[in-house]
Amino acid sequence: MRQNDTAMSPQRVLVRRDVALSASELMHSRQVHEHLAGEIAAAGGWISFERYMEIALYAPGLGYYSAGAHKLGHGGDFTTAAQISRLFGACMAQQCADVLRELGAGSILEIGAGSGRLAVDILTRLEALGRLPARYRILEVSADLRERQRRLVRGCVPQLQERVEWLEMPPAAAFDGVILANEVLDALPVARFRWHGTHCEELGVVLEQDRFVWAPRPAGAALSQVCQALAAAGGGWEDGYTSEYCPRLGAWATEVTRALGIGVAMWVDYGLPRAQYYFPERRDGTLLCHFRQRALDDPFLYPGLQDITAWVDFTALAEGCGPAGCELAGFTTQAYFLAGLGIDREMQALARGDANHYARLANEARQLLLPGEMGERFKVMAWSRGMDARLRGFALKDLRHTL
Ligand SMILES: C[S@@+](CC[C@H](N)C(=O)[O-])C[C@H]1O[C@@H](n2cnc3c(N)ncnc32)[C@H](O)[C@@H]1O
Repeated sequence: MRQNDTAMSPQRVLVRRDVALSASELMHSRQVHEHLAGEIAAAGGWISFERYMEIALYAPGLGYYSAGAHKLGHGGDFTTAAQISRLFGACMAQQCADVLRELGAGSILEIGAGSGRLAVDILTRLEALGRLPARYRILEVSADLRERQRRLVRGCVPQLQERVEWLEMPPAAAFDGVILANEVLDALPVARFRWHGTHCEELGVVLEQDRFVWAPRPAGAALSQVCQALAAAGGGWEDGYTSEYCPRLGAWATEVTRALGIGVAMWVDYGLPRAQYYFPERRDGTLLCHFRQRALDDPFLYPGLQDITAWVDFTALAEGCGPAGCELAGFTTQAYFLAGLGIDREMQALARGDANHYARLANEARQLLLPGEMGERFKVMAWSRGMDARLRGFALKDLRHTL
């Protein structure tokens, strides 16, 4: 979960920027700055925000996700559902177990495993359920996080470490089973645009007196067409309406699900169906940055040191399903998903009769479930391939009609 996440509110309450940086952090951010400045110069003085975000997050050896500067969990930049509670992984394991049971056997591919907590919790619960996957693969772009995940797996489930393997690219060989990604789609680079009724501008980045600043350009034909469609879906925008859109969402999801033979892919992230995402009231989009549990609205601050995210347009993700050769098998909120998978029973199983432990888990469950916390802002979408998947996580509330 991105703490202090106020992107839903048109009036964001953002935290102070007076963060003390260490000398090595300053040096790292300076290197990323120089790299971005070089890109801008080479491109004639302007790059799209999509390109800026790609470099700031993924430039080899420099980007936030490539260089190992980021931290998860308490004291890190942000905390995810898996970090908040083992209940998240336990429920996710229940859904994986159902699919693996139906298939008879299969593997799991987790994309972007962060600290490795979700992998450990899923494997632990699947072992108890007698439904271990043949392989548990982790596709992770960050070398630093791959190492951290290895250590956690070795420390928590040493008996299962042989089943776990790490990938730097989507798998080439076909497999049956489950693919899951929690809080990964929100990091895919987005294009930023500003609407002016009759025309649309693309917001890019230029360098002015050694500082990155927003710079508009007339949008190309493709982006203009997208904006027209998004404006219609949102219900009409005022002059100056600014938002973002993720051009690579469908292609990326297709790529990472390509090797799935029979099975299910599950995407969990904060986001909305398109009509709500592009509401006229949300006139500044959902772009948000995270640094040490602080939410900032300036993506040009600390390049390489802060996470940059945008909410997921789940209608766009659903549109990617058919071209990827999948069926849309479910869409619901995180609260309904976890409730459908028996979070109450998982609490009892984890607490093992210890009242204090149960009380702690109840607090964690509130964070995962309450509408003001993660319960409604986070959505879960399932794609299936080659199977008629009736998934328990989507049985309580089917929100596909909202897409
Ligand atoms: C916000 S963390 C989520 C971690 C974890 N899923 C959890 O729930 O705690 C994002 C993770 O996705 C990884 N990541 C980001 N972009 C990725 C990409 N394009 N492909 C694969 N992994 C990616 C990051 O390195 C990190 O491990």
